[in-house]
Amino acid sequence: MNFRSATDEEFYLTEILRDDKDAYLKHMLNREISDNTFNIPFPYLEDDAVTWLKMKEQETTRNARPVTFAIREKSGFLIGSVGFDGMVVGQDESAELGYWLAKPYWGQGIMTSAVQKVCELGFRELGLRFISAHVFVHNLGSQKVLKKAKFQKEAYLEQQFLKNGEKIDALRYGLFRKL
Ligand SMILES: CC(C)(COP(=O)(O)OP(=O)(O)OC[C@H]1O[C@@H](n2cnc3c(N)ncnc32)[C@H](O)[C@@H]1OP(=O)(O)O)[C@@H](O)C(=O)NCCC(=O)NCCS
Repeated sequence: MNFRSATDEEFYLTEILRDDKDAYLKHMLNREISDNTFNIPFPYLEDDAVTWLKMKEQETTRNARPVTFAIREKSGFLIGSVGFDGMVVGQDESAELGYWLAKPYWGQGIMTSAVQKVCELGFRELGLRFISAHVFVHNLGSQKVLKKAKFQKEAYLEQQFLKNGEKIDALRYGLFRKL
């Protein structure tokens, strides 16, 4: 699956592979990825990557298709990820959307397009009726991505998440399939 960013560059969504380990280890050196996401650790160790990639492989095998995607540039190098971690196709009618992008690629409309593409696929091909997303209140870029993808803000979750030993406020967003 391909899509174009706001700057008209072409990117690809494919399954995440074991060979993507080096890309993960490189991009996760930037602490901002961990600071803005719920479950990505920092420092990000080789074991973290190996465990994650194994989990993604099992997820793809179980569903006979990927539900979490690598975002790749033309060369095939992984520059981020977007999708529905843990989703079981044929069983789940709702799923949680998660995503991150390597810092050098921020601000080019890449994630706005990727999120729109993956949500379309979720509704059209994966059998979803509802997609949720959680965002820390300080993460304005991610809130903008969701707004542009037509998600509705549903709730303000006060101090419900623990990050780096601190309780943080978050927002819950949702998007229903159009009938
Ligand atoms: C959040 C993130 C995914 C945004 O990806 P991106 O490709 O840079 O986003 P886009 O370029 O599509 O930007 C969408 C909008 O948000 C704006 N934006 C991006 N980063 C912003 C920031 N830090 N502060 C305010 N606005 C921001 C863009 O200007 C754009 O608005 P515009 O179309 O009106 O110009 C990326 O910054 C990232 O991976 N961050 C770390 C991990 C993370 O936050 N994951 C999401 C967890 S919920």
